[in-house]
Amino acid sequence: MDKLVSLAKRRGFIYPGSEIYGGFSGFWDYGPLGVELKNNIKQLWWRMFVQERDDMCGLDAAIVMNPEAWKASGHVSGFADPLENGKMFNTMLMTSVGAAAEATNAYLRPETAGGIFVNFKNVVDSLHPKLPFGIAQIGKAFRNEIAPRDFIFRAREFEQMEIEYFVRPQEWETAFEEWRKNVHAFNEAVGIASGSVHEVEVADSDRAHYSKRTIDFEFDFPFGRKELSGLAYRTDFDLSAHAKASGVDLSYLEDTGERFVPHVIEPSFGVDRALLALLASAYTEDELGGETRTYLKFNKAVAPIKAAVFPLLKNKPELVAKAREVYAMLKKFVPQIMWDDNGNIGKRYRRQDEIGTPYCITIDFDTLGEKPELKDTVTIRHRDTGEQERVSIDSLVTRVA
Ligand code: GAP
Repeated sequence: MDKLVSLAKRRGFIYPGSEIYGGFSGFWDYGPLGVELKNNIKQLWWRMFVQERDDMCGLDAAIVMNPEAWKASGHVSGFADPLENGKMFNTMLMTSVGAAAEATNAYLRPETAGGIFVNFKNVVDSLHPKLPFGIAQIGKAFRNEIAPRDFIFRAREFEQMEIEYFVRPQEWETAFEEWRKNVHAFNEAVGIASGSVHEVEVADSDRAHYSKRTIDFEFDFPFGRKELSGLAYRTDFDLSAHAKASGVDLSYLEDTGERFVPHVIEPSFGVDRALLALLASAYTEDELGGETRTYLKFNKAVAPIKAAVFPLLKNKPELVAKAREVYAMLKKFVPQIMWDDNGNIGKRYRRQDEIGTPYCITIDFDTLGEKPELKDTVTIRHRDTGEQERVSIDSLVTRVA
């Protein structure tokens, strides 16, 4: 874990929040590489669960909601953890809205799910989706955790990717099984080691107040086996509670004329925990050319940088010009490309290995035509094996993309 945290800081993935002020417990900042990695994870999820499906749509609701919504959902009375003295402490983070005298106390959402339930009727009225269908949302959530710990694993500000999948009451078990498989498919697509993910059936006494069945997906983190994501059957608890509290009918009308409140299956993913599980899965140490090295074995889809382009020597203008040309051409098609001309080639390889760049492309004198048969070819070096190949510039886009 120490090695991961240190690499994450050194290479610009994750920094302690407000570090120059001594940090702020439970808050973390994502650096230049971290934000790319995090965006790639979110895009993969959105594509897989929203864009590639016909039964899903997306939403981006406000973080601060009318506080009545959190009363109805049971969070004001029930979203609490025990303190050392046994007293219960509500972990919703509070804020106040409006000018001081008339300020209203409000909460920063503790889960993105709330925004989905209060928009159920809006989505049904605008898109008329047929059951079963789901609404997905990615966004920040906040919890005033009593003891934030284990790097980004338990933070006070974090990000969730959640789906509320609405079904006919008798269909919940089928949907639950389908989403159970989908959770594993997503983990695999990200590159989270499947042998390190374990399903745990959550006992009645440990389930959240709204759930009739929950499976936790746990991961073997360096600090132990802990929850990565969850899958819950929330019944009609939320829609019914919001209908009652708001006075707005949140039932669904079938083509057959039957009217009922849909039930809900909820796959809930933590972006930060997925990123941490990915870092732990990708972190590799091996020996290459007689030296030990560290690299991140990211797949192409999540790698923050897809390829790095180097001129063999930075003091040869003709090499630099050609390398700049290759870099600009590639960047048009694959934006996540890095230029690097610092230090010798070996150092550049090590640096790219540590940030998980799958390919390094070097422009040398042969590229310029010193050996005429090699004109307009480059060396492409593969991260995992260290092997190098001579390929034509024309083939780079398809290899790297
Ligand atoms: N809507 C259901 C829900 O919020 P949860 O198990 O409390 O369920 C879902 O949270 C996911 O959010 C967790 O599996 C985890 O990935 C992430 N998560 C929860 N609390 C977190 C925290 N303090 N820091 C980082 N991630 C957290």
